[in-house]
Amino acid sequence: MANEKTATEKKTDIKRIAVYTSGGDAPGMNAAIRAVVRTAAYHDLHIYGIRRGYEGMIKGDIQRLETKMVGNIIHRGGTILKTARSMEFMTPEGRSLAYENIAANDIDALVAIGGNGTFTGASIFQKEYNIPIIGVPGTIDNDLYGTDNTIGFDTAVNTAIEAMDRIRDTADSHNRLFFVEVMGRHAGFIALNAGISSGAAKIFCPETETSIDELINSLQKGARRKKLFSLVIVAEGNLNGGAQKIADIVKERCPHYETKVSIIGHLQRGGSPNAADRVLASQMGYYAVEGLLAGRSGVMAGIVNNKIRYTAFKDAIKKTKDLDNEMVKMAEILAR
Ligand code: F6P
Repeated sequence: MANEKTATEKKTDIKRIAVYTSGGDAPGMNAAIRAVVRTAAYHDLHIYGIRRGYEGMIKGDIQRLETKMVGNIIHRGGTILKTARSMEFMTPEGRSLAYENIAANDIDALVAIGGNGTFTGASIFQKEYNIPIIGVPGTIDNDLYGTDNTIGFDTAVNTAIEAMDRIRDTADSHNRLFFVEVMGRHAGFIALNAGISSGAAKIFCPETETSIDELINSLQKGARRKKLFSLVIVAEGNLNGGAQKIADIVKERCPHYETKVSIIGHLQRGGSPNAADRVLASQMGYYAVEGLLAGRSGVMAGIVNNKIRYTAFKDAIKKTKDLDNEMVKMAEILAR
């Protein structure tokens, strides 16, 4: 019987891997770190953790990670490695300092957990210094091409729904019109999914043109049917502005509505990852290490239709993952 450890054919002589989290944190990042560490340990690799993403790489904030150090973290939100958005890493001087620390620790390859900005940095760095890097998509925004879901998205949607359900109770009791703002600077995945799941009357996404006239029309139709309260969901990056701005316009034009605004904000980023995110993060962390050992680099480990798919950083970053038009249409129909 074949030795289990020979199951993954090693095509590289990678011996030391470092993992880091960068950009906005997302629930499930710890599960991904755990998977990277444990898969690396399984292959007898030495594994290091870089704290605060590229900031820590530049400052040399790098420590050895052992299997036992990632025990009891799979359920925890945030990231044990901390995170940051580094301006310095965007400069050649910053990246040169970062590489000095990578070389000083004899690190052969990197696993980058994060979103768009993280992979933009990783893509430049791996080409500049010829160091293998695989990305793991961790962002609540779900705005990366090459994976059905990103780590943290599902949990964030569920957090938003929980908030919407609570708001619905009070909106209903007082016959109020609530504008609820969710995260998503450039992407409406949270807004669309939370909007559908919470029966929102209208969903404002950055990708779709929803006019305030349209909103007022549908609110008036609802009023004719004796609909006494409504929830409107607004992605922070939508074309009409934030929830407060839209609420102010509606109030000005229809003063009889009692409007209220609720911004869910960073509540969506924290909290324990749900089962879907824990499984997804475990798969992606595992496949990131397997990919590096198989000689892959400059790619993101995504899961599409439950199967691993490696997508070049340039595509993961540049190609847009569109909202499903049929879902957008369905949301409109079901809200009538
Ligand atoms: O990219 C993830 C995200 O949560 C966005 O949805 C949001 O606009 C942004 O991060 C907020 O970033 P910060 O925590 O730096 O304010």
